[in-house]
Amino acid sequence: MTRPRTKIIVLGSTNTDLVLRTEHLPKPGQTVLGKSLTEFGGGKGANQAVAAQRAGGQVIFIGAIGDDYFGLSRRAELEFERIDLTYLRTVPKVSSGVALILVDEHGENMIGVAPGANHQLMPTDIERLPKDLFQPGDFFVAPWETPTETIRAALQLAKNNGATTIFNPAPVGAIDPHDDWLGLVDVLILNEHELGLLNGQSFVEASQSLLMITDLHDRGVLNIVVTLGDQGHLLSQDRQMEMFPPFPAEAVDTVGAGDTFVGALACRLAERATLRDAARWASAAAALAVTRPGAQAAIPTRDEVDLFLARVGTMTGR
Ligand code: RIB
Repeated sequence: MTRPRTKIIVLGSTNTDLVLRTEHLPKPGQTVLGKSLTEFGGGKGANQAVAAQRAGGQVIFIGAIGDDYFGLSRRAELEFERIDLTYLRTVPKVSSGVALILVDEHGENMIGVAPGANHQLMPTDIERLPKDLFQPGDFFVAPWETPTETIRAALQLAKNNGATTIFNPAPVGAIDPHDDWLGLVDVLILNEHELGLLNGQSFVEASQSLLMITDLHDRGVLNIVVTLGDQGHLLSQDRQMEMFPPFPAEAVDTVGAGDTFVGALACRLAERATLRDAARWASAAAALAVTRPGAQAAIPTRDEVDLFLARVGTMTGR
């Protein structure tokens, strides 16, 4: 049976990930010797677009890359995924985004990003989009690696046209409390660290996190998903909170696991799954992603996730 493909519009960053595998992550001022250096397709926006497309969605990607070797390589990879790149702008004489990533033997990572062309994605890019690009029933997804004003403009356009909006505040930027556009967000997906930072705290105690989630609801967000790594995830809908355990996974590289979760969840929601079911499926996709190296390289296909769920379900009754 062929599934109807749902339209998901992703706005976000494209990076080249240069990944150095090391035994340990260095402390400030320390030098560590690496074992291997590998180039991968990355960037939170492109990762989420690939995750939604491999989950079975029909993705349109809005972004900006430079006119250099990295930009050409990343464009070719996204084309290979059959993602619609009509609105991926090449910015002349600007470098493409690059992320320098260290991954240790436990799969933990450190990431520094040179945004390059990603920061040239402007509100004018949103003004230039065709008026009928967003339709009622479409889904719009954005992480936070492109300028805030651009994301805000796109969220507004998506909402004005009846699309459902998903925002992943990663990496966390500043929100003007006088212009709290979180009210434009239907589903907010964030990790514990981002939950704290959005509320002005660098560290979150479990007892505080419930208050912080309530505060985000007060600021207008309807649905909140907090990803908790090897602790699973938490859903808060209509202020009702529920915890879900993780799927078993031997992590070799967690880079891009959060993006896999976001893109996979968007695709399943667009197919009209409940948030609970979509998050469960996304959690399985992320569990598979951490077992393989690289961001986009590790993102599983629809069939891989379905097979994994069938196998785990048989073993655990979940
Ligand atoms: O979320 C993982 C991504 O963050 C990497 O692919 C890297 O490019 C950074 O944007």
